[in-house]
Amino acid sequence: MIVFEDVTLSYGTKIILEGLSFQANFHEKIAILGKSGAGKTTILKLILGLQNPDSGRILIDGTDITVLKESQLRDVRMKFSIVFQEGALFDSLSVRENVAFCLREYTDLTEEEIEERVRDLLRRVGIEEAIDLMPEQLSGGMQRRVAIARSLAACEPRMFLYDEPTTGLDPITADSICALMNELSSGQPPDRKGLIVVTHKVTDAVKVAERFLYLSEGRLTFDGDIDALKNTTDDELKRFIYDIL
Ligand SMILES: Nc1ncnc2c1ncn2[C@@H]1O[C@H](COP(=O)(O)OP(=O)(O)OP(=O)(O)O)[C@@H](O)[C@H]1O
Ligand SMILES: [Mg+2]
Repeated sequence: MIVFEDVTLSYGTKIILEGLSFQANFHEKIAILGKSGAGKTTILKLILGLQNPDSGRILIDGTDITVLKESQLRDVRMKFSIVFQEGALFDSLSVRENVAFCLREYTDLTEEEIEERVRDLLRRVGIEEAIDLMPEQLSGGMQRRVAIARSLAACEPRMFLYDEPTTGLDPITADSICALMNELSSGQPPDRKGLIVVTHKVTDAVKVAERFLYLSEGRLTFDGDIDALKNTTDDELKRFIYDIL
């Protein structure tokens, strides 16, 4: 379980998060919505201990990660698979080496085992044929798929974190990424691996999430399901979700 307790974070004089509190189970499918610069990516960084809050606590499975050392954070990070904003592949490495990177770094697998696992993962995300290509030779949608395969490589996550996984993609390709995300988070709670997707594309958010959080001015101004979302009376949120109304 993830628990944010009264989390506050500023950069210089700019307040990003102000007394943010929420709880999430690992099997939930959550979208964090908000305008550009609202602090969505920051929330993912806080969950992974890549960023520390100024005050408040962040509990992952009951452990306050804000006081952990870097070496202890590894166990926390292994609970999650993360696809960073824009996919963020290593430009100088082939698709094979991008996906193999964490396997080489964190496991003792042999070369043959790595090759087999890489092919498995690429097959799972539907682009095994791209194994020998370089990132620059891939379309945006293919790059996202490789990034998802890479995020799955090193660990069996309890939950998937996606930062703007469909931003910049055409509607059809974006839809296929949403389908892949749903496939990876299939099954019934409490057994399934849930997801937190951070996005400003509300039409994609509703394809994968069951719970919606809206972040505005450092606070959560909405937390509810799709029906509650569509019936919101909050003016800013109404404008934000205009495309699905
Ligand atoms: N390392 C940093 N130093 C200073 N300011 C930062 C830093 N990281 C983020 N910020 C600021 O914090 C705010 C929130 O950033 P964040 O990346 O979380 O926004 P976001 O909601 O993910 O936006 P987007 O939708 O554009 O990705 C922004 O105003 C950003 O400029
Ligand atoms: Mg962001």
